Amino acid sequence: MIELAFSILASDFAHLADEVAAAERGGGTIVHVDVMDGHFVPNITFGPPMVKALRPITKLPLDCHLMIEDPDAYIPVFAKAGANMISVHQETCPNLHRTLQHIAELNVLPGVVINPATPVETLIEVLPMVNFVLVMSVNPGFGGQQFLPLAVGKIGHLARLRREMGLHFRIEVDGGVAHDTVASVVHAGAELLVAGSAVFEPGRTEQNAVELLRLARAALLQA
Ligand code: DX5
Ligand code: ZN
Repeated sequence: MIELAFSILASDFAHLADEVAAAERGGGTIVHVDVMDGHFVPNITFGPPMVKALRPITKLPLDCHLMIEDPDAYIPVFAKAGANMISVHQETCPNLHRTLQHIAELNVLPGVVINPATPVETLIEVLPMVNFVLVMSVNPGFGGQQFLPLAVGKIGHLARLRREMGLHFRIEVDGGVAHDTVASVVHAGAELLVAGSAVFEPGRTEQNAVELLRLARAALLQA
């Protein structure tokens, strides 16, 4: 099932509740929360207090994308703040099995993320234990960057592995997902579509979400 995970990084933080409500009215079903620490990525955003603030304003699942060093140290705090999905970067986890297990034990859906330069093969051993795999289609750190087409091949590769290995993880894609790129990722097998700048726009957020989902579902019918 195609789902829109709208990235609040592109929203107006001064009106966060209204922004989330507009994206939700447009059909968004997951709130994507981009956590950046200024070390793993060259930008700083927000942390557990933001998740805690979001929790009472929406019933939608909160998808915490941890672009931080040493995610193990912070996973319990994000779970306690109300995260429903937590993804960690393969590049930050020397003991990836242990980290994913840790997330699952807290009753949070575990996901693993790969940067554009990280091959899909590095995930083979952990695929049986993840709920979702996030393929970055930009180098993480900022919203509004240009989509990197190499992500399409990686999504297709993961979809093939999923079939061959008899698994059911979902494939998420993040970065530059917009009206002109959404069909290619859906054709390749992505189901959870992260979008920030293509959704949030003053006065047009609801319509933008509706239109992006319409294009994604149309692409699925042609797939
Ligand atoms: C990038 C973040 C993304 C970002 C997407 O590091 O992980 O989730 O907010 O923004 P857009 O959709 O504008 O590329
Ligand atoms: Zn993200």
